[in-house]
Amino acid sequence: MTSISTKVTQMAQRLMVALDYPDQASAGELIAQLEGIPCYMKVGMQLFYQAGPEFVRDLKSRGYSVFLDLKMHDIPNTVKGGANSITKLGVDMFNVHAAGGSKMMEAAIQGVEEALAGDSSLNRPLVIAVTQLTSTDQATMNEQIGIPGSVEDSVIRYAKLASQAGLNGVVASPLEAEGIKSACGAKFKTVTPGIRPAGSAADDQSRTKTPGQAIAGGSDYIVVGRPITGAADPRAAALRIIEDMSAGI
Ligand code: C5P
Repeated sequence: MTSISTKVTQMAQRLMVALDYPDQASAGELIAQLEGIPCYMKVGMQLFYQAGPEFVRDLKSRGYSVFLDLKMHDIPNTVKGGANSITKLGVDMFNVHAAGGSKMMEAAIQGVEEALAGDSSLNRPLVIAVTQLTSTDQATMNEQIGIPGSVEDSVIRYAKLASQAGLNGVVASPLEAEGIKSACGAKFKTVTPGIRPAGSAADDQSRTKTPGQAIAGGSDYIVVGRPITGAADPRAAALRIIEDMSAGI
């Protein structure tokens, strides 16, 4: 296996690979190709609902950091229970919708605290809010969801609400990271999908930044799916992305 330098290791820990696969077998092929690169693995609904907690435990036993991207949004008591179970699973990050409101976000934190109080060996996961989905444009937000104003203003408002509720950060477009940092402070994490290396296909992402631009713009973690999962050589693609991230510092 190619040895990985310390600098690459540090930057790889800020790269979240979106495992958008239908099952464990297909995700496993990519994981094998990325072996030795200490990136974060993002497990979303499609894979989790099929492969379940065992798949997450397996990633953890291989030493990966895991972002469980299930975007919980329910009554506070139910989200508290969900957060409790997710914490017991040992993930490093999970998320809830800021649209669930302060009480729901605070309940997520309580669920984490109760799990940690019951088992001191558990890791404290970062709890991240989803603000406005990048698929939500202003017309949808204004006319269907019923929130007036611009998407950018709504994202900042949700980020402040999440910060006040004690959450650790938000998922947002890389174009919004700087505004979120100025509104919520440098320690408030920004997790940014919508990343495309220079020259690669935008797919269905509309407002993108390159890995280096995103890091330079204040993203703490970048989420990358198809530019790695769809590459002819995913390992080479991931290493190029890590190199580009390093250039952004
Ligand atoms: O393939 P691509 O790099 O576009 O994948 C981006 C990943 O980030 C996907 O897993 C997608 O669900 C997720 N995501 C996103 N936009 C958001 C939230 C999550 O693209 N606002």
